[in-house]
Amino acid sequence: MELNEALYTTRAMRRVKPDPVPDDVVAAMLDAAIRAPTGSGGENWRWLTVTDRSTMTALAEMYREAYHLLNTTMYAGKKEQAEARNDQRALRVMSSSDWLAENFEQVPLVVLAFHRNDPSGASIYPAVWSLMLEARAHGVGATLTTVLSWFKNDEVCAMLDVPTDHGWTNAAAVTCGYPLGRWGLATRKPAQAVTYSERWGAAPTWSVDEPLWNEY
Ligand SMILES: Cc1cc2nc3c(=O)[nH]c(=O)nc-3n(C[C@H](O)[C@H](O)[C@H](O)COP(=O)(O)O)c2cc1C
Repeated sequence: MELNEALYTTRAMRRVKPDPVPDDVVAAMLDAAIRAPTGSGGENWRWLTVTDRSTMTALAEMYREAYHLLNTTMYAGKKEQAEARNDQRALRVMSSSDWLAENFEQVPLVVLAFHRNDPSGASIYPAVWSLMLEARAHGVGATLTTVLSWFKNDEVCAMLDVPTDHGWTNAAAVTCGYPLGRWGLATRKPAQAVTYSERWGAAPTWSVDEPLWNEY
């Protein structure tokens, strides 16, 4: 797959089929992920793949509780606000997020990323994104989720025998599977609307009115 196609179309693909992701694809995803950079080249990461149905059911319960906690605390009122603004994009994200919470146990593969000794917390995310790009190249949809790590880290770690006494903690749970829907271009505010030049607030000398890659 062409690099720009992967970069422009790797979306949060929450609605996935229950069909398993073959081992060779899982291996390719992890092999690409661990090529990513880390601070000081520390490679302080561990990856844990979950496909077992009973583990997935337990993860699904935890995910739903975490998602409920998120929606009743930090995200409280967001749906009502989006409805009042008639913000269709936000409403689509919420509907797709609801779908994942409701159907988590049918997700065929979850890749959990663990990290330690990383005060920035940043070292794991390039690798997580590489994992998702490689998944995209194999036609596998993925979603970076963090609600489990925010609200259920201790329970997730206890269930999966994660040695938290050695500093390991969950950073993300990437849900993976073959998409129920179609791939599409990621819609975002244009780059010039969120980029300054030389000083905060000063517009750059360039602008991009349409996505520079859009073969869809
Ligand atoms: C750090 C991070 C945490 C996220 N956590 C969650 C999550 O817990 N659950 C979820 O459904 N989506 C989660 N997402 C996915 C975002 O909602 C999604 O990337 C965003 O809405 C853009 O969607 P799009 O790429 O399909 O346009 C997360 C994304 C990031 C980057």
